[in-house]
Amino acid sequence: MKKRVAVLISGRGSNLQALIDAEQDAYEIVAVVSNILCAAGLDRARAADIEALTLDHKPFGKDREAFERELNALLQSRKIDLIALAGFMRVLTPYFVNAWQERLVNIHPSLLPKFPGTKTHERALAAGESEHGCTVHLVTEEIDAGRILGQARMPIHADDTPETLAERVLTLEHNLYPRCLADYARTL
Ligand code: GRF
Repeated sequence: MKKRVAVLISGRGSNLQALIDAEQDAYEIVAVVSNILCAAGLDRARAADIEALTLDHKPFGKDREAFERELNALLQSRKIDLIALAGFMRVLTPYFVNAWQERLVNIHPSLLPKFPGTKTHERALAAGESEHGCTVHLVTEEIDAGRILGQARMPIHADDTPETLAERVLTLEHNLYPRCLADYARTL
């Protein structure tokens, strides 16, 4: 049975597009949820006939859990098996992470455990790394530290900038994420 996947986004959704375009034989994207009402990724969902939902975090103020309880209810009512984070710009609380333990997957633009957090391309350059890439991993309470499901790597060239790295890493992401999500879905 295909696993029912919800993809959480906040922005352009190019990884969402890659997950949609891949042969979805192990998973089926049944919902896309964005906390940003005008996220471009929502149009990608609609174009693919996938339910596109918005849940604005702002009315919840600082109460992250209240936002997540609402999100959880949306996901539970759609019988979601697996969540794929794809540029979802909210830090998740232990409440949500524990509720979806082993069912919450993220893609991160660095070769974890190197460079968790933000500005990964700048930091890889500043550290004088010879290679860079991206990681698909399970989400745990500690940011970008859960079990690694897969990585894709590439060399860093002398003339690379954060922008050129971002572009090449994104191409790797689009290839890696669907493969890892499918492989993981098959193990559930
Ligand atoms: C990607 O770089 C991903 O690694 C990070 O957020 C970005 C999302 O880009 N988590 P997009 O919205 O999928 O184009």
